[in-house]
Amino acid sequence: MAMILGIESTAHTLSFGLVNEDGNALPSSSDLYTPEEGGIHPREAADHHSMIAGHLLQDLMDNNSLDSTDISAIAFSQGPGLGPCLRVGASIARGLSHSWDVPLVGVNHCVAHIEIGRNQTNCNDPVLLYVSGGNTQIIARKSGRYRVLGETLDIGIGNMLDKFARNHGMAFPGGPKIEALASDWLASDSTHTMDEISLPYAVQGMDLSFSGIMTAANQKVADGQPLEAVCWSLQEHAFAACIEVAERAMAHAGKNELLLGGGVACNARINEMAMIMCEERGATAYCPPKPFCVDNGTMIAELGRRMLSVSEATNLSDSAVSPGLRTDQTIVSWD
Ligand code: ATP
Ligand code: FE2
Repeated sequence: MAMILGIESTAHTLSFGLVNEDGNALPSSSDLYTPEEGGIHPREAADHHSMIAGHLLQDLMDNNSLDSTDISAIAFSQGPGLGPCLRVGASIARGLSHSWDVPLVGVNHCVAHIEIGRNQTNCNDPVLLYVSGGNTQIIARKSGRYRVLGETLDIGIGNMLDKFARNHGMAFPGGPKIEALASDWLASDSTHTMDEISLPYAVQGMDLSFSGIMTAANQKVADGQPLEAVCWSLQEHAFAACIEVAERAMAHAGKNELLLGGGVACNARINEMAMIMCEERGATAYCPPKPFCVDNGTMIAELGRRMLSVSEATNLSDSAVSPGLRTDQTIVSWD
């Protein structure tokens, strides 16, 4: 059966993935750029993506016994993201589309997180809590767009976790390491309350803010609180803030499904909080399997498939990358 190939290259991850024309999703072939020290350097990440691309694509095709004649369209992340990284993915997409003579479709990365979540969980009309490195948004579909009902006013929740982790000697990605330390702390004594290691609360109306909470958490460690305890409190405060805004968004928008997406959705504690909140209001929480929470090429293929079902392919002249693309700029006319 013909397959849509998706290419993801917005930031750290280069990934190729496939869906067939019925929307059956196959695992992606991915590789993560990890800086030797400090945060992401866009040019270095882009070099990593260029170097690894040929091997990754070959692996994907070999693992699925496919050749170029099995591919019916090429989808790529057009934005938002880091310009140099996006341009690598877009160039590969244009080249493949031209040499394999198949349509090209540029997609919105944030919307792709939503559509792979709907694909994987079969939820229909959710509020999406999109918690990744660079983005933290609460989103719902209304009048042909995915509207941003709330978002971070400064850094993404994942970047906050990564930076805090880096400050305390843990390499990227920091989120899973913080999760492990927080569990250790709970396992050591589960009677702790947030008051012991209280941090600022990140909610500002329907928006969120994470830089203050990170500074305060660093200070707690400097003051001698155990790192595990601060990791636990950091998760409790940051996740509770996201869940609170998501709950209000569900109430305002009249939706009874919550979908988690983005890399931070891999965290068991934010999933637990989402489930408890939804149970209390008679709603349902959904989360796709981890490989589809983090950035992956399959989600790009899935959104490309849905877009091609209702509209034309992207012309070469419209295929420039769009680093500042917003979730609500994309017109949503598919089911
Ligand atoms: P986007 O471009 O959408 O902002 P991204 O480049 O940040 O995405 P993702 O793969 O969606 O990439 O998310 C990566 C983030 O997810 C990192 O900040 C990482 O620390 C975080 N993360 C991954 N696993 C966990 C976990 N178990 N708990 C908390 N955070 C996690
Ligand atoms: Fe992402």
